[in-house]
Order: sequence, then C-alpha cells, then structure tokens
Amino acid sequence: MSRELERISAEARICTKCDLHKERKTAVPGEGPADARVMFIGEGPGAQEDLTGRPFVGSAGKLLTELLASIGLDRSSVFITNIVKCRPPNNRPPRKTEIETCASLYLQPQIRLINPKIIVPLGTPAIKTLMGDDYSATSVHGKVFRKEGRFFLPLYHPAAALYDVRLKDTMFEDVKMLKELLDGREVVAQPIS
Ligand code: URA
Repeated sequence: MSRELERISAEARICTKCDLHKERKTAVPGEGPADARVMFIGEGPGAQEDLTGRPFVGSAGKLLTELLASIGLDRSSVFITNIVKCRPPNNRPPRKTEIETCASLYLQPQIRLINPKIIVPLGTPAIKTLMGDDYSATSVHGKVFRKEGRFFLPLYHPAAALYDVRLKDTMFEDVKMLKELLDGREVVAQPIS
C-alpha cells in the first residue's frame, strides 16, 4: 500500500466519527495493492473481520475468493474494502449517516488514490452508495455501467449467495464479465444516470 493509503487506514483504525466505533473491536480499512485495477466494495465488516481487522475473511470472503479464482484472479491482486469500516452491531445494515460519514472520510479518498479501472460493489447497500439510490442488486447485478472513466460491475453480495445455490450460480456467471473487462474486450456499458 502507498503511504497515503496507509495514512487513510491508520486514521480509520482510530476513527470515532460515528457510533459504529463504540462496539467495534477492530476497524477494517481494506487491503490490496495501491495500483489495483479492480476494487471490490462490500457492505461492512462482519464478526471475523472485526476480530482480525481484514475484509472478507469469513464465509462470505471464502466465496469471494472462489469467485475471483474462477476467473483466474488472486485476491492479493485486487483491493477489497467496505462502505463502512467498522462492524455494525449484530450485522445490522449500516445507517445512511454512518455510510455518508465513513465513505467521505475513507472510501472516496481510497477510490481517488487507487483510481481503479473497475469498481465491483457487492450487494445493494454498496451498489446504492457507489451508483445511486435507483440501483439495487436485483435490478442490475452482472450489468456493466460506466461513470467518469470507470466501469462499475455490481454483483450480489456473496453472503446472500452462501445458502442459495441459484444466486451462487448467478454470481459465478456475473463475475465472468469482470474477466471480459480486464481482458479489454468490448462490452456494452450503460451510463450511470
Ligand atoms: N461482508 C461484507 O460486506 N464485508 C466484509 O468484509 C465481510 C462480510
């Protein structure tokens, strides 16, 4: 990670800007190369992530690693983070004010510094945060969008697919589009309104 990214991580680890800091054990700023071409952005740390300080290390993370492997990607080659860096109590969805505070302090600066070619929001809260309130996982998963010189490939959240074989199959289909983008193939990309 670059020094600037390290500085953002260090600040997130001691952040007290919203209520989520009160019950977290460890903040989870995110990890990956500073020049990653792809950023995966989830909803928020779960129990395992809160214990270890690393994103997507629990069962949803295992599925994410498998999805990456299915298109020949190693998880160390992508940047993985969340829209909020601290675990919401009992895994409740993060609140709008928590997302706004956290994203403007940490996620948006991370995106600016890494400047990925492709952003992959995982699940509806991340999709709405990155693409706007009109979008949801059900309506746009697996479709390619573009905005400000970047591609967006929204996917279902891997936790939703863990116990739903059909959703899991859909995720393995949808992620193939990431390979197309990385290989520089022509894809139909809709503008984000
Ligand atoms: N779910 C998320 O959204 N993020 C993680 O880091 C782990 C599980």
